[in-house]
Amino acid sequence: MALVTTKKMFEMAYKNGYAVGAFNVNNMEITQGIIAAIAEEKAPLILQISRGARKYASMSYLRAIIDVAVTENPDIPIVMHLDHGDTFEICKQCVDDGFTSVMVDASKHPFKENIEITKKVVEYAHGHNVAVEAELGQLGGIEDDVVGVDDVTKYLTDPDEAVEFVRASGCDSLAVACGTSHGAYKFKTEPKLAFDVIQGISEKLPGFPLVMHGSSSVLAEFKDLINKYGGAMPDAMGVPEQAICQAAKMAICKVNIDTDLRMALTAKIRQVFAEKPGEFDPRKYLGPARTAIKDMVAHKIKVLGCVDKVGEVLAAGD
Ligand code: G3H
Ligand code: 13P
Ligand code: ZN
Repeated sequence: MALVTTKKMFEMAYKNGYAVGAFNVNNMEITQGIIAAIAEEKAPLILQISRGARKYASMSYLRAIIDVAVTENPDIPIVMHLDHGDTFEICKQCVDDGFTSVMVDASKHPFKENIEITKKVVEYAHGHNVAVEAELGQLGGIEDDVVGVDDVTKYLTDPDEAVEFVRASGCDSLAVACGTSHGAYKFKTEPKLAFDVIQGISEKLPGFPLVMHGSSSVLAEFKDLINKYGGAMPDAMGVPEQAICQAAKMAICKVNIDTDLRMALTAKIRQVFAEKPGEFDPRKYLGPARTAIKDMVAHKIKVLGCVDKVGEVLAAGD
């Protein structure tokens, strides 16, 4: 099967109260780990590529890796998605390159400008049967290329603005600020999501799919391994899985995960280096890291309620 758009995936996810996992890909091992889990759990999948990923691995390598994943898994609906495209030009380039979904993240601009940029992307993307995710409100956290705000609670998405934004821009899904943030240090004190924001938007926009970025949980298993084997991430804190699970049952149809992949990979590599200091064959530490990613993603799919959903997405057509 060729790549698909998010349209039917989100329709099914919304209707049946689950979310599709959107995992960031940066190299072959990460992609293979994700795909192995997805194939086993029979879950629809969104593979997303950030600016940092393109800078690191190049678009053509990532595209080739995803092409192989799609060819080898003809029964799984897979979306190739641009993560945080900040200009019309990058979104257009990805549409032209065969992406089936793009995120235009113009959330740093004033409201009207965000609408205008998003609308322009929507017009172009829809002309090529590509879905568009937009963002309203501001997420916290700092990644290589995604600079967020300090206090996430200050910039939560306003439900009334969300209605105006979605109607005016024509976007297909909306990333909302509901208390999550990017990276491994999401909360300084007790983790708390603004479920009222999700609920408020879904009451005003029934049936409209919402997206939750910054949804890694910073799993204790990997945090502990990292700290045990020479790393230093004592204050790392993520979104509790029970909160992700609750959001997935609501209007959140796409859940973005990158940090948990990074931590699984790092933890396993650190463990191998610590336990076998003489090891220098990359396959001997990247292999266990890939397996850890597979197991972690399989677990996430269960948290998202997305196990065995391939059948209904395929039956819905694209
Ligand atoms: O949203 C942010 C993702 O974690 C991607 O981050 O640009 O460092 O790859 P990156
Ligand atoms: P995490 O840093 O929580 O994994 O979020 C990733 C993300 O939102 C990518 O767009
Ligand atoms: Zn993000």
